[in-house]
Amino acid sequence: MTLLLDVKGLTKRYGGLTANAEVTFDVNQGEIVGIIGPNGAGKSTLFDLITGFQPLDAGRVFLDGHDITGLRPDRVAGRGVARTFQKLKPFPDLTVTENVIVGALARTADMRVARDHALEALAFVDLLEKRNSFARELSTGQRKRLELGRALAMHPRLILMDEVTGGVDQRTIPGLVDLVLELKRRGLTIVTIEHNMQVMMRLADRILALHAGRRIAFGRPEDVRKDPAVVDAYLGTAADAA
Ligand SMILES: Nc1ncnc2c1ncn2[C@@H]1O[C@H](COP(=O)(O)OP(=O)(O)OP(=O)(O)O)[C@@H](O)[C@H]1O
Ligand SMILES: [Mg+2]
Repeated sequence: MTLLLDVKGLTKRYGGLTANAEVTFDVNQGEIVGIIGPNGAGKSTLFDLITGFQPLDAGRVFLDGHDITGLRPDRVAGRGVARTFQKLKPFPDLTVTENVIVGALARTADMRVARDHALEALAFVDLLEKRNSFARELSTGQRKRLELGRALAMHPRLILMDEVTGGVDQRTIPGLVDLVLELKRRGLTIVTIEHNMQVMMRLADRILALHAGRRIAFGRPEDVRKDPAVVDAYLGTAADAA
């Protein structure tokens, strides 16, 4: 097994709130690592720190042995790390193809190559039919696939996916799961934040569980799911919500 992403002690504070507290985990080449945790656990923040969208307070990020800590988002993308956003923000008045070309341009300056990569990614996420629609005309599920297509058009080696199945029509979830598994078969390394435990159990080789910014478990899905700290974290939220 070859280590691709090595995250050590990432810490992020927003004022008095510690969004990530010394989070350590790693991802092997070709692996799917899932991230779970109740709302506000610090999952999206972890992606923000890895991809340079937020400055971090402590810790280091290594990609393929190279220290990429604190690099700007475009530099991280240039090294082959793509991410999708939980809060979708496509350019509403650009077409689907144009939105994905913007993603592809993160890795190439050649417009023709970018267009080819965009169309190939749109075919993969099954949005070719919508390629000339404006992004604002898409349904939530289609916008999720647009977001995935935008990230894939970068031809990444590692993709960080933030709730790809979140908020979509239940019937479209199996198709999305198949897409992710196909990406793995093609050799992509994947980190995926996912609330749906059934989906997570199908996808993940290992699971990282966060709670209140801290890592509470990391390992085989069967073990993490049963881990008392994980069970407690979810029961705690259920009780709080009740
Ligand atoms: N830019 C920010 N400024 C201030 N606080 C922030 C910021 N981003 C996140 N936080 C806070 O950090 C904590 C972790 O947020 P984060 O979005 O990482 O959680 P999450 O695990 O992704 O939750 P969810 O499942 O709801 O998406 C939360 O308390 C959140 O309010
Ligand atoms: Mg989140």
